[in-house]
Amino acid sequence: MMTRESRTFLQGRTALVTGGGRRIGRTLVSALARAGATVVVHHHLSRDDAQATVTGVEVLGGRAFLVDGDLADARTAAALCDRARERCGAPLDILVNNAAIFGPGDARTVTAADWDAHQAVNLRAPFLLAQAFAAQLAGEGPADIINLNDGRGLRPGADHFAYTVSKAGLHGLTKSLALALAPRVRVNELALGAVLPPEGGPGGYVRTPREALPLRRFPTPGDVAEAMLYLLAAPAVTGQTICLDAGQHLDPFA
Ligand SMILES: NC(=O)c1ccc[n+]([C@@H]2O[C@H](COP(=O)([O-])OP(=O)(O)OC[C@H]3O[C@@H](n4cnc5c(N)ncnc54)[C@H](OP(=O)(O)O)[C@@H]3O)[C@@H](O)[C@H]2O)c1
Repeated sequence: MMTRESRTFLQGRTALVTGGGRRIGRTLVSALARAGATVVVHHHLSRDDAQATVTGVEVLGGRAFLVDGDLADARTAAALCDRARERCGAPLDILVNNAAIFGPGDARTVTAADWDAHQAVNLRAPFLLAQAFAAQLAGEGPADIINLNDGRGLRPGADHFAYTVSKAGLHGLTKSLALALAPRVRVNELALGAVLPPEGGPGGYVRTPREALPLRRFPTPGDVAEAMLYLLAAPAVTGQTICLDAGQHLDPFA
């Protein structure tokens, strides 16, 4: 593997980014492609956005492919890595578990359906994807899983209850998988603060004001991409969490 100093240190590697067509996922796809990786962009409902993301990579001279699928469905999640591998004609060696749902509801109002939907997309799918990713690896080169987590997953509170519990599970999954898949696969996570507000209205979402964050700034999608690239170039790091939250996790009142 080339070092991070090389602009194309991911040349020869192949990544799958779930939910990679829009928002943070699109920025991650673009960063991977600019670093030389071939990228399979997964989407569910946002086909046009995902196609635009692929086109954006191709315009810059990179290689990208589309794959679709509803990750709430266990069989679809389990089959996605093999479908992505077929689509691009090479084994995957980077998996970015980015797709997620973020629904409202507190412990008194959350329904069994809300619970199941969050666990399926935010926790079960990353596990099934990781399992299939490990099974399809070829050769002896580096292999990485990056999970997109939330500060709530490390310090669970009462809001967005089903989401928060699913992300707390993802935090545990990251550490368990890091041990279970070592030494072949490194597994790390990025725990985000408020990067992009959710679409479609607040739904109980209240963003911590910038002034309340220790660094007085919000993290950007570009910050998230830089941290992902760091992890992909850090061969001695596994089972780790990088908090991209402008210091919010340090402050019990933020
Ligand atoms: N935005 C933030 O500030 C923030 C904060 C903390 C943590 N995070 C985490 O960072 C990641 C990216 O955040 P984001 O805000 O960019 O995410 P997002 O826009 O809420 O969702 C990303 C993608 O997930 C896909 N997705 C949702 N349900 C799916 C399903 N059933 N099957 C397959 N794909 C599905 C969607 O793909 P389609 O559009 O193609 O349907 C969507 O575009 C997420 O894991 C999120 O939890 C984000």
